Formats: sequence, C-alpha cells, structure tokens
Amino acid sequence: LGRSIHYIESCPSTQIIAHQLAQENTSDGTVVMTEEQTAGRGRMARRWHSAANKGIWMSVILRPDVVPQKAPQFTLVAAVAVVRAIEQVTGLKPEIKWPNDILLNGKKCTGILTELQSDADGIQALIIGIGLNVNQVADDFDPEVQNIATSLKMESGKEIDRKELVSSMLQFLEQYTDLYIEEGFGILKLLWESYSSTIGHPVRARMAKETLEGIAESITDEGVLQLRTADGKLHGI
Ligand code: BTN
Repeated sequence: LGRSIHYIESCPSTQIIAHQLAQENTSDGTVVMTEEQTAGRGRMARRWHSAANKGIWMSVILRPDVVPQKAPQFTLVAAVAVVRAIEQVTGLKPEIKWPNDILLNGKKCTGILTELQSDADGIQALIIGIGLNVNQVADDFDPEVQNIATSLKMESGKEIDRKELVSSMLQFLEQYTDLYIEEGFGILKLLWESYSSTIGHPVRARMAKETLEGIAESITDEGVLQLRTADGKLHGI
C-alpha cells in the first residue's frame, strides 16, 4: 500500500482523481494526496472544507477480491488505522463515532468517505477517502462547522508533522487491511468497538421509511451496527 503515491499540489477532490486512476486500472494500494481541495466532498453529498497545507486529504484505491460485499468493513478498518496513527503521533485519544467519524473531545477531526467504482468490464475498486484536520486553527474552518469540527493542533496545542502522520497512517492501513483480508474481521471488530463512542450509547438512525431510536449494542461481522429499540427488537443499520 502506498507504493504508488500521486501527489498533487491542488485539485478539486482526491476522490475524483482516484476514480480516474481506478478506471485506468491503477494498482491496488495506489494513494492520491493533495495539499488543497477546491471541491472536497463529504458523505451524503456534503461539502468537505479542505484548507490548504493544513490537513491530510487523501484517497486510497483498494482492489480486494471481495469487493463490494465487504465495503462497510473496509471503512471501519480504515477508521481504526487512522485512530491508531493519531494516537501514535500525537498521544491524543480519539474516538470513533458510527460509522467512521473520528472525534476528539466530541468534535470531528476526521471524516472517511468510501466509494465503489466499477468500470465497463465490471471490475470494481474501493476508493477510501480520508480527510484529517491536522494544523488548522478555529478560524480556518467554515463558520457553520466551527462548533463541531476540530484539528489535532487545536486539541494538542502543538503543530503536528503531517509527513510523520501520513507515514504512520499508511503503515496502519496496510497492516490492518492485510490482517482483515487474511484473518477476517474479528480482531478489527474488537479494536473498532474499543475505540467506539457509539457502542452502549443512544443512536438515532434515519432509515428509508422510518427513524429508529435505540441503544447501539455491537457491530456484526458484516460491519452492521446493531441497534436495540425500546420494544426490545434488534435492528441492523
Ligand atoms: C465525511 O463526510 O465525513 C467524509 C469526508 C471525507 C473527506 C475526504 S478528504 C479526501 C477525500 N477527497 C474528498 O473529496 N473527500 C475525501
């Protein structure tokens, strides 16, 4: 992983570049990284504000044999890898909020966006986009997210070496995706749960037809969150 790294000074979104590369049959583990995104995208068609030179904005192209059934697990595996890297480099203690927001003191420092890609031959790739707020100060964020977003610098009081963080992240990503492919989800599921701020807490989930409220109990081996509603029923979300 990361043997081929495409570094671009500025681009609309590393996800867009990664999709293009995936179409051109780039190899498994290719990484796209940039200093600045002018049209960074988040989950649910939201915008992802990506300040120049302050964060880590990257997309990783994976071509496992098992796509797409395993896409949710890969996202959870990526979240664990990012948390471990943040811990290792900064000493901070991040938490994972379902499915893959990474929080420090209840504020979001990292978002992960997983997209599937299929080309004309039907070959599919998994594109995992990671946006990590590293050296921003409060004023670097859009006013509408200032209350809910944070950076590693804001939480640790120190400027963080982004190169060190990228290298740690790529190492953990490789280690954990290999572990997942070779051994399955078991150990990674336990790791995910141990960093989770969601398990054991109330969750509200907007489903296609209804909104479910309950307590998050666990995640399944398929990477599905199990929610227990007041009537005692268990729902997979
Ligand atoms: C979220 O909504 O929480 C997910 C945010 C994902 C942002 C990253 S930054 C690198 C990659 N390129 C994008 O345009 N988005 C992802």
